[in-house]
Amino acid sequence: MRRPGRGAAAAHADRRLTVEPVDLTVAALHASVDDPALNSMNFLNEVAQHYPDAVSLAAGRPYEEFFDAGVLHTYLDTFRRHLADDLGLSPVQVDRTLLQYGRTKGVVHHLIARNLAVDEGITVDPETIVVTVGCQEAMFLVLRALRAGPRDVLLAVAPTYVGLTGAARLVDLPVRPVTGGPDGIDLADLREQLRRARAEGLRPRACYVMPDFANPSGVSMDLAQRRRLLDLAAEEELLLLEDNPYGLFPAGTAGRLPTLKALDTRRRVVYLGSFAKTVLPGARVGYVVADQRVAASDGTVGPLADQLAKIKSMVTVNTSPIAQAVVGGALLAHDCSLVAATVRERAAYARNLRHMVDGLARRFPAGGPVRWNVPAGGFFVVVTVPFGVDDSLLHRSAREYGVLWTPMAHFYDDGATVNALRLSVSAVTPDQIDLGLDRLAALVTDELAEPAGSVISGGAAR
Ligand SMILES: Cc1ncc(COP(=O)(O)O)c(C=O)c1O
Repeated sequence: MRRPGRGAAAAHADRRLTVEPVDLTVAALHASVDDPALNSMNFLNEVAQHYPDAVSLAAGRPYEEFFDAGVLHTYLDTFRRHLADDLGLSPVQVDRTLLQYGRTKGVVHHLIARNLAVDEGITVDPETIVVTVGCQEAMFLVLRALRAGPRDVLLAVAPTYVGLTGAARLVDLPVRPVTGGPDGIDLADLREQLRRARAEGLRPRACYVMPDFANPSGVSMDLAQRRRLLDLAAEEELLLLEDNPYGLFPAGTAGRLPTLKALDTRRRVVYLGSFAKTVLPGARVGYVVADQRVAASDGTVGPLADQLAKIKSMVTVNTSPIAQAVVGGALLAHDCSLVAATVRERAAYARNLRHMVDGLARRFPAGGPVRWNVPAGGFFVVVTVPFGVDDSLLHRSAREYGVLWTPMAHFYDDGATVNALRLSVSAVTPDQIDLGLDRLAALVTDELAEPAGSVISGGAAR
């Protein structure tokens, strides 16, 4: 188990002092609530709140200077006009669409289908899309549906986005890691994990992957690797859960590669989408494309999306139509192209990513003990150091050096110490990156100068 950070420990001590009798123990609640995966996001947020003056290279949030509350009304009006003018709805129907309980699968599904066609070359029937409360809900719905019994397990490329691991915990679905490596996924290890799980009598339901600028590793899969992965998935009758929140943010001139879903001719890919980084996170709108054909008990056949919608109807009922209308209006305002809508963002994130890797190169000598990867895009860079990086070091970094980052241990599920940290470029300016890196370099220099044996070592340099 990972050790709780100082903030968590202090809060724990405070709570023990209470004289009120307790009504429940955590042991009497679902096991997930006491799981490190579910504490991870809160812990990192708590640390950030505790040290508001620290430079945050931890937050994977969009850059706030691009927020513009003024466009919300414009987007709402644009969507209302679309309902009336393009879809022929009466004024009463337009109001009902926005203000009433709504269709479980959503009201902007047709625009999402158009967006996927325009930006990704993905052709899907809008009926195979469920609009969700962020991508997070989409992950939950899919995992809930796939976890049919105690033999079911999920494979996931490690390091893994903690929101996926946490969602799997909620539905009692064990997650087994597959080595990521420099190619985005080690296919030999994927085969081996499948073989091992099946030999144990388990049923691997899917493998979670992020082929584009992954969170947290920053790694992408090249085109040949994507095709090999799809072939393997077909051979092994494995579903792939493709999560793609960062795909619109390449940093170089090479541009973007087709998503797995765009290459998927055999319905092996369930595609998870988020508007948090491309429109705005506060809308909490995401979606899932689930076109797999499911035979129902009454003999009818329909898309997996219909089954996911049943689960959604008991979780969030429907995604706020007002929030969907904002996203729908943003899509309409850019002819359904988020590539067109995110020109400024793409330029800023690419500039920041270059600034970050150049800044690392200026502060840490080539061939030295500190190494980092150079992602082709996205928000994240992973720095590897010759000492263990844990939550207590993060606290010390925030308190004594004034810089926040994310221990990579949070993205592994085994509680082991990891000699690496994740830096994020998305919510900072180049000046803040410089300041943050100066402070990080001071911390690393001091850690390296510690007498031998006093630094935590032996963690995997993953
Ligand atoms: C890889 C990944 N998937 C999913 C999400 C969640 O997206 P949403 O905000 O749409 O729930 C995030 C958010 O940071 C993410 O990094």
